[in-house]
Amino acid sequence: MSSPAPIHPVNPVPPRHIGIIMDGNGRWAAAKGLPRLEGHRRGAERLIEIIDACIDAGVNTLTVFAFSAENWKRPLEEVSGLFKLGEWILRAHLARLEKRNVRLHVIGDVTALPEFVRSPLEDVIKSSRGNTAFNLVVALNYGARQEIVAAARSLAADVAAGKLQPNEVDWSAVESRLQTAGMPDPDLIIRTSGEFRLSNFLLLQSAYAEIVFASVFWPDFDKAQLQLALAEYAKRERRFGQTREQLQPSDQR
Ligand code: IPE
Ligand code: IPE
Ligand code: MG
Repeated sequence: MSSPAPIHPVNPVPPRHIGIIMDGNGRWAAAKGLPRLEGHRRGAERLIEIIDACIDAGVNTLTVFAFSAENWKRPLEEVSGLFKLGEWILRAHLARLEKRNVRLHVIGDVTALPEFVRSPLEDVIKSSRGNTAFNLVVALNYGARQEIVAAARSLAADVAAGKLQPNEVDWSAVESRLQTAGMPDPDLIIRTSGEFRLSNFLLLQSAYAEIVFASVFWPDFDKAQLQLALAEYAKRERRFGQTREQLQPSDQR
């Protein structure tokens, strides 16, 4: 007996939300005998190209992991270099983001960031509020475990205050307290640099995300690499716990 033909051999719909773990800047630089910060600079420039490519591909939301809650463990010089770079890239490409009607969001604990980067970031978050073509979400001082701890505290406080019954705590109560509240879950997570791990990125939101690991370092992840990741995504059949026979075209998203 031949195996049943797939009902949806390809997923024709581009991912609505892509998450990218932009990894490998340091190794990219080391391989070229350059300082790590040069790798980060080239990586930041690459991000601008990838934002454009995502908009052109019909993607609606891109969440990029720029600085993890664990990245504070790095040498102070690298950490402060990263924040200076963040401030520079924001200023240098603001007009472009505006022109492409991009709305900026941040997830993570920004209160811990230095003022020189927090303040322009907050300005752009405010000024881009009316932009509707694309959502760029930057994960800065973000960690999924820290995010769930904050959500659990908020639930506990509401229960203690009598605003919520313990049996009213369901997924929607948790989800609404995550920093991504109101955003669609990521459909596709891409990690560059050949590492096969999630490193505390969007763990709950990625419950049903497709994951693509790219072997290139982030500064080498160009439009062609994104096309490869999208082509890989298009081959994935998303089932969300159902059998193949139960699938509806709307499950492919
Ligand atoms: C990713 O590149 C950028 C950040 C984590 C800020 P890395 O700096 O982690 O580069 P590798 O993994 O050491 O090569
Ligand atoms: C994940 O990369 C964080 C970012 C890309 C910002 P890391 O380089 O920090 O992850 P690990 O330490 O290799 O898991
Ligand atoms: Mg790394």
